[in-house]
Amino acid sequence: MAKDPVRVLVIGAAGQIGYALVLMIAMGVMLGADKPIILHMLDIPPAAEALNGVKMELIDAAFPLLKACSGVSIAAMIGGFPRKEGMERKDVMSKNVSIYKSQASALEQYAAANSRKLSSALSAASAACDHIHDWVLGTPEGTGVSMGIYSNGSYNVPPGLLYSFPVTCRNGDWSIVQGLPIDEFSRKKMDATAQELTEEKTLAYSCLS
Ligand SMILES: *[C@@H]1O[C@H](CO)[C@@H](O)[C@H](O)[C@H]1NC(C)=O
Ligand SMILES: *[C@@H]1O[C@H](CO)[C@@H](O)[C@H](O)[C@H]1NC(C)=O
Repeated sequence: MAKDPVRVLVIGAAGQIGYALVLMIAMGVMLGADKPIILHMLDIPPAAEALNGVKMELIDAAFPLLKACSGVSIAAMIGGFPRKEGMERKDVMSKNVSIYKSQASALEQYAAANSRKLSSALSAASAACDHIHDWVLGTPEGTGVSMGIYSNGSYNVPPGLLYSFPVTCRNGDWSIVQGLPIDEFSRKKMDATAQELTEEKTLAYSCLS
């Protein structure tokens, strides 16, 4: 029996990571080889021509999973501003924040209530694909993965930070693996990372106001 198609939105689809990502999605790497997909691709106006090129390539390749094209279920936000020479970290962050902010409000209007948002400026397309694959389809019994998720205070990571945790996934939900031993070396690194992320969060908020 044919499965229902799922709508996937890729923002920044004409960029290098976005381009690789849409191809992988079309090939079934993200959601499985039997899941039909309706793909929505967005990018900024200067990338319109490149985006059209991506679309033509997808049509030419005639991927069997791609269905003709509301309610987006999975959103991959890849677009960000590349750091150019002479730019301060804060300048780039401020550009990124305004990009993500406008994307997020656009998304709120169109996304299905249950939408999964993957804000992935840094990770490469295949990592993004694997991530959503594990999230949606579940991690194999007895294995886990690392995912950047909201901290609930596990492993003494400040609650509310987006932090990488060991997780298992089942039915589209993740759960943090508890009780792994942490040696002194790792503890120090984890605390330093938490500190950095806290500073980054403060910086991002200051760009918002
Ligand atoms: C901004 O986004 C770019 C590209 O997506 C990313 O490489 C960079 O690390 C981000 N910079 C900051 C400061 O958020
Ligand atoms: C955090 O969530 C995990 C499941 O993801 C749960 O096992 C754990 O008890 C929670 N920890 C705290 C401190 O709430």
